Amino acid sequence: MPYRTIIEPFRIHSVQAIKLPDRNQREEALRRSGYNPFGLHSDEVIIDLLTDSGTGAMSSRQWAGMLDGDEAYAGSRSFYRFLEVVQDLTGLAEVIPTHQGRAAERILFTVMVKDGDVVPNNTHFDTTRANVEYQGAEARDLVVAEGHDPSLLHPFKGNMDVEALERTIEEVGRDRVPLVMVTVTNNSGGGQPVSMANLRAVREVCSRYGIPFFLDACRFAENAWFIKLREDGYADRSPREIAREMFSLADGCTLSAKKDGLSNIGGFLAMNDPDVARDCRNLLILTEGFPTYGGLAGYDLEAIAQGLDEVLDEEYLRYRIRSTEYLAEKVARAGLPIVKPAGGHAVYLDAKALLPHIPPHEYPAQALVVELYLDGGVRGAEIGSVMFGKPQPDGTEIPAPMELVRLAVPRRTYTQSHIDYVGEVMIDVAERAKGLQGFRIVEQAPWLRHFTARFEPL
Ligand code: F0G
Repeated sequence: MPYRTIIEPFRIHSVQAIKLPDRNQREEALRRSGYNPFGLHSDEVIIDLLTDSGTGAMSSRQWAGMLDGDEAYAGSRSFYRFLEVVQDLTGLAEVIPTHQGRAAERILFTVMVKDGDVVPNNTHFDTTRANVEYQGAEARDLVVAEGHDPSLLHPFKGNMDVEALERTIEEVGRDRVPLVMVTVTNNSGGGQPVSMANLRAVREVCSRYGIPFFLDACRFAENAWFIKLREDGYADRSPREIAREMFSLADGCTLSAKKDGLSNIGGFLAMNDPDVARDCRNLLILTEGFPTYGGLAGYDLEAIAQGLDEVLDEEYLRYRIRSTEYLAEKVARAGLPIVKPAGGHAVYLDAKALLPHIPPHEYPAQALVVELYLDGGVRGAEIGSVMFGKPQPDGTEIPAPMELVRLAVPRRTYTQSHIDYVGEVMIDVAERAKGLQGFRIVEQAPWLRHFTARFEPL
């Protein structure tokens, strides 16, 4: 390429209007929603970085595939197209479509995990953790120490601590570890990648103890791109080859197609073990649907099949990872504390560093999320003690290891000037950080409380 600028490798074909409500309207929206961004109407938000999940723009080829979707209840042609793409990518024999990632998690853990078990992961995503805990098992996070230090530069901060994994297996006994999971990229740990060497090392431990190894593969293509950029020996390999190698190390995976499937809904569970797959399919029929559609329309299966193919395009991945890094560079240059290096799908603000005057039990990252909306109509998500704090019987709480605000970038949706605007809002809020106050929770659910909790400013 003769020029430095990395352009969006697409042109815009259809648009949706967005607008910024005035400050009074934003204040009122916050009051109404109990200061929880999950309670905002999307029309009250101008740039929505709540999640990169299901919020991306589909391509004209995906829409074209959807028109040709086959809605047969059993044996749909769209299912067989989806099956072929997933088997070709993952090398896994048994493929079970689900309506999204957490349905795959619930089915897999219902079949494989029982009361008293321990499930290791680099860092469990919130639904993954909740689904493990719902079975009465412990969800144990074993990310490498580097993964806990937001400002430390390291190429693979999503890696699992392989020694800690072995210690866990020795401590609790092989029979109480029904599977090991690794999340690529490590969403709750800052969207950080996992190296191929680390996946190989986890594979080796799992093989030695005879424990199945599953990937939580939502962002497999972004992880593959980081391996290409950062790991010795992969610079000349295609993202597809790298992704295939990642999957080849695992016995199975769960995948939310709302991320690197470039689709608005969908997911799947895949594995090699036919006996576990049979039990999973029986559960699937109970709650999701027949095994050739699993809670999805035939047209969704078409969109996913096409999306899984497009996401491995090098020009797309170069633009995708660069656009997140671009926002990170902009705010880091202005002195904002962020998780470094930038994650694949999101920039994570370090609220503990930016708001040292707000203690974890007053939710500094929630304070920041509220202010980003109030200031510029930008919606982000708290990934800190609201999401992962552990309420104790005496009314206190064990805080989360990090207090982060995640600004997740939807795929192929916003332009560089949208991102410039977000950067300006973040910098403006950071300049006023000293004046921000914490929050207390006035209403909460017994699990996944961050979705519905209501707050009051202190
Ligand atoms: N695993 C990871 C690593 C995820 O990031 C998600 C979803 C899931 C599993 C569950 O998938 O939403 O399709 O049921 N993450 C979204 C997010 C919601 O905002 O990060 P799902």
